[in-house]
Amino acid sequence: MERPDLDFANLPFAYHKTDANIRYWYRDGKWSDGELTSDESLNLHMAAVCLHYGQEIFEGLKVFGRPDGRIQTFRLEENARRLQRSARKLLMEPVPEEIFRAAVHRVVQANRRFVPPYGSGASLYVRPLQIGVSPEVGVKPSRDYLLLVFVTPVGPYYKAGFTPVRLIVEEEIDRAAPGGVGDIKCGGNYAAGMRATMGAKAKGYSEVLYLDCREKKYLDESGSSNFFAIRGRTFMTPASPSVLPSITNLSVRRIAEDMGLAIEQRPISVDEIPTFDEAGCLGTAAVITPVEAITYRGVDHVYAKGGVAGPLTTELYRRLTAIQVGEAPDPFGWTEIIEEM
Ligand code: PLP
Ligand code: COI
Repeated sequence: MERPDLDFANLPFAYHKTDANIRYWYRDGKWSDGELTSDESLNLHMAAVCLHYGQEIFEGLKVFGRPDGRIQTFRLEENARRLQRSARKLLMEPVPEEIFRAAVHRVVQANRRFVPPYGSGASLYVRPLQIGVSPEVGVKPSRDYLLLVFVTPVGPYYKAGFTPVRLIVEEEIDRAAPGGVGDIKCGGNYAAGMRATMGAKAKGYSEVLYLDCREKKYLDESGSSNFFAIRGRTFMTPASPSVLPSITNLSVRRIAEDMGLAIEQRPISVDEIPTFDEAGCLGTAAVITPVEAITYRGVDHVYAKGGVAGPLTTELYRRLTAIQVGEAPDPFGWTEIIEEM
């Protein structure tokens, strides 16, 4: 296996060309067999529904190099199910779980040389994408769909990895409404949030923390990850109809339970911001990113003093990543080996 000329230990979170992507077409009521290609572009009808009316959903999961040299996925099944939930909400054709699994395994097998080795701190990010491709001008669901899965080797989402980041509470811009689509992974949510995120970055923050848009009183999530806080030995994360049900969050709650922490998934008021002992972001890309401070109405609330993550956040990170890379046993059945071809 000829390794690409990449500095795996210093990869950014960015697109890098690999050897192949895989495509499955849904036409005339059935899914095709799936075709690997090295073509990085798509030939789409200019009136395709995804381009005009936003029938576009995606996923994000990671593949890790294990200490024994094998490679494994993390919670693939949950991503398959969430893609189906996203599809149903936008009246798209749900991808059967077995097609999703085969697509991920095949595209990773075809790009095995790009899987960062154990110890590099990097991973292979898998990006499944589903779009409505039928030409329409009236607003209605597409008849035909494309499922495309590409991969790219990545490093940490926030430049410094497990180093605390600063968040600012966003009071003007909303990402998603309670009856809307904030709880699914569709491209429109990210377009809606870009001006908030870019505005925060211009002020020196890594991300925004959105509030519920009805009352502007409860914490929702950041633009690219879920939010959690720790007070005493309680792990808290917002319950909200407009946040994405994060698979990392789901996993971390399970691990937190094992650590003897109490779990609260409930509306968390902005008034609680000064009471947190620790805080962090949760996501496939973000993993667990400690939050150094949250700025709310001009006041900084600091959790990671001196830029050092708190002890419980650090332990959660250690346990989660140990399972992801296969350093620790996986008692939950979250990982799946990708066999060599
Ligand atoms: N929230 C948003 C808006 C996201 O984009 C993501 C990333 O996938 C998450 C939360 C975290 O979800 P997961 O842990 O399943 O990656
Ligand atoms: C992920 O964490 O997988 C995401 O899709 C978030 C994205 C902003 C990179």
